[in-house]
Amino acid sequence: MNPFRSVGARLGLGLAAVVAAALVLVDLIVVPSLERNLINAKLSQLREAAPTVGSQLLNSSSFTLDDTVQAAAASSDARVVYFTPLTFHPAKLTVFADSSSVTSADVEDDRLALRAFEELRPVKGTVSSGGRRYAEVAYPIFGGPVVLLRAPLRDSLRSIHLVRSRLVVAGLIALAAALLVGYLAASIFARRIRRLERAADRIAAGDFSEPLVDSRGDELGQLARAFERMRQRLAQLEHARREFIANASHELRTPLFSLGGFLELMSDEELDPETQAEFTATMREQVERLTKLATDLLDLSRLDAGRLTLVREPVDLAALAEILVDEFRAVAVSGEHELGVEGAVEASALGDEERALQIGRIFVENALIHTPPGTAVRVGTALRNGSALLTVEDAGPGIPAEHADRVFDRFYRLEGSIASGSGLGLAIAHELAELMGGAVELETRPGRTVFALVLPTAMSKTAFSQEKGRLRQPSLQ
Ligand SMILES: Nc1ncnc2c1ncn2[C@@H]1O[C@H](COP(=O)(O)OP(=O)(O)OP(=O)(O)O)[C@@H](O)[C@H]1O
Ligand SMILES: [Mg+2]
Repeated sequence: MNPFRSVGARLGLGLAAVVAAALVLVDLIVVPSLERNLINAKLSQLREAAPTVGSQLLNSSSFTLDDTVQAAAASSDARVVYFTPLTFHPAKLTVFADSSSVTSADVEDDRLALRAFEELRPVKGTVSSGGRRYAEVAYPIFGGPVVLLRAPLRDSLRSIHLVRSRLVVAGLIALAAALLVGYLAASIFARRIRRLERAADRIAAGDFSEPLVDSRGDELGQLARAFERMRQRLAQLEHARREFIANASHELRTPLFSLGGFLELMSDEELDPETQAEFTATMREQVERLTKLATDLLDLSRLDAGRLTLVREPVDLAALAEILVDEFRAVAVSGEHELGVEGAVEASALGDEERALQIGRIFVENALIHTPPGTAVRVGTALRNGSALLTVEDAGPGIPAEHADRVFDRFYRLEGSIASGSGLGLAIAHELAELMGGAVELETRPGRTVFALVLPTAMSKTAFSQEKGRLRQPSLQ
């Protein structure tokens, strides 16, 4: 990056520009006004002294005039020149007495004295002579003479020059300090911004391992903490994604591997019809398992992508309980389970009927598969504080407390569960229920395990049948 385009350089230059502008303003406004004030103070001082000096000169005789001029010069701290009109040329002035012993040539044609003489009023101003500036007050004394008080401005102007040169030095120091402070301050920020940039690049490259720590309480610190939260979330998602792919591939490979083995056996060897029938039955089971797995994975991927379409309609849970028991009657009989509806109350929920049925199937299938033969399984409904429940209860061994929370995780199975399951059923049930605005609940202890689908209640049964068609509307895309 061009070093002059960095934040540090820009901030430093910006501060330096502000300091430089302040200095120029001081030089253009403050210094001239200071100079004006000093000159005016000198002129006022001379103007105040002029009448006294005038009357002293007027009262002095020609013998004492030189002494009076010297005394007046000393008391007024200025050169005192006494002009009188020329005898043969009354419109012109001539120097009659001068406190300066060097020469009077420089004041002979003094324009202020001449103006005071002509206009008969005191005149003040500055004049330059011999490369120097003076403050002058010309004071006319009645009858014609003019007294001129002249004081050098050298001392006043010297202090102005001093102020100005100090100002330049101070300004240069301030400029350098502004450049340095601006650059350093911005460099500190720039370093923290670069850390954020590097972290963003790492995340963009798929590396979520390095945490971003910035404990400061300013905006950059807040940004860094937001960044860190994002990194952790992305790391979790990435971990879940990898785990999901690994699990899904493993689950797909097992039945495919088994199918491949059977196919090889069947093509290689002369099999008797009995074994062949046995092999075909096992292969059908594996194909069914694969089909179920593919359907479950598709459901999950739709859930992840938010593309699962649900309708929000009144669902009669008691009717669903009957359907479930009918559907699984044959499976229950083959596993010697006692399956029936028990304690079903009229419970109308708001949700998607097909998906509620899918969740019920997951519960009933689990109750039949994961419990020993002969275990009783009861499907029922209930109402509870504005919620309608579809419950599946079994008298099986239950799920140990340390696993109870995790059975809703994807691919989670308990040790010793039957091998055909993939551990996706309850995860799908949980996510579907949440999507319908409900939840799944589990209550388990040895001898009694209850899975419940909890949905918001709809209206009463009479209104329900009339409204059912009208209420059908997609709630989620
Ligand atoms: N009624 C139950 N009694 C005892 N254990 C259960 C019961 N229901 C679920 N489980 C345990 O919870 C685990 C997760 O269940 P889940 O339905 O998610 O997966 P699965 O049944 O193993 O496979 P899938 O349903 O995907 O075919 C099961 O493997 C089983 O160990
Ligand atoms: Mg299951």
